[in-house]
Amino acid sequence: MSARKRVLSGMRTTGKLHLGHYHGVLTNWLKLQQEYDCYFFAADWHALTSEYQNPEIVKESTLDIFIDWLSVGIDPEQATLFIQSQIKEHAELHLLLSMITPLPWLLRNPTYKDSQTENGGEGDATYGFLGYPVLQAADIIIYKANLVPIGVDQLPHVELTREITRRFNHLYGEVFPVPEPILTETSKVNGLDGRKMSKSYNNAIYLSDDEAALKKKVSAMVTDVQRARRKDPGDPKQCNLFPLHTLYSNPAEIEEICSACPKAEIGCVDCKKILLRNLVDGLAPVHEKRRYYEERPEMVQEIIAAGAGKARAVAVETMRQVRKAVKISSD
Ligand code: TRP
Ligand code: SF4
Repeated sequence: MSARKRVLSGMRTTGKLHLGHYHGVLTNWLKLQQEYDCYFFAADWHALTSEYQNPEIVKESTLDIFIDWLSVGIDPEQATLFIQSQIKEHAELHLLLSMITPLPWLLRNPTYKDSQTENGGEGDATYGFLGYPVLQAADIIIYKANLVPIGVDQLPHVELTREITRRFNHLYGEVFPVPEPILTETSKVNGLDGRKMSKSYNNAIYLSDDEAALKKKVSAMVTDVQRARRKDPGDPKQCNLFPLHTLYSNPAEIEEICSACPKAEIGCVDCKKILLRNLVDGLAPVHEKRRYYEERPEMVQEIIAAGAGKARAVAVETMRQVRKAVKISSD
């Protein structure tokens, strides 16, 4: 048995990944995979809680997300990568955990509460949506994960996981470690319009965007909104482009922009040209890796199958212990 701590995290498969995911979640995963025993999975069942009317989106996104992960360097040799729905044991544990989870714990979950006040109080949340955090708890503890990297929005879910885990251990014996959240810093990269980068705002730069798409999107980016004309001074700190420069441009270029923009010695069109070139160069290795895997779908399928095999072995063993603890059909 490895003594490294176990890390687990998942992503809902509701669309392809963008630079917000890359510079928030994925750079974090890239570090974690070197240090810990990592399990990363595509949460396709969780995706259905909101996308149950669009199952084809979930299906497509599941493969897309795998290719996105591989393209940025998430490494199936270092981390176990798998698809939630391929490990049926999550569903069995979810069912058992649902027996011991008091309804008020779920009713006060912020995600659920928000869904109830949306649409003028016409909440139409499903049973599965209410139980979302119970499935998430099962995802986490079935691997006896110690650490769960998440964005701050997911904190209530991990807190709930901790409560459910303690309750299980209290009722049936110490089967599970109580996992701890690790907060992922939110990405500084906003969308083209300056709002949070998101598929639903239609303002995202995707990892899969080619040069032509990048060009179109960079030209459409809002800059410093105070800078109405070319001769007006600008402020990189107020500019939506600048975080991308800090990630993709070199220090000399950044320094030049910081000095020239406030004196109106550089225009936004030229500044965007610099960014575009650096984005294209910076993403070239990612695009190259993506092409490699896109040309080898059988290899991606092998990676998915191998990950499922590794994940399943752990989940099956945990469920053996769980069934024994709850005295249900020991096998
Ligand atoms: N709820 C998470 C999200 O929307 C995805 C997720 C599902 C997850 N199961 C998980 C994250 C387990 C961490 C651990 O981002
Ligand atoms: Fe932003 Fe560059 Fe325009 Fe300055 S010159 S406002 S940093 S795009």
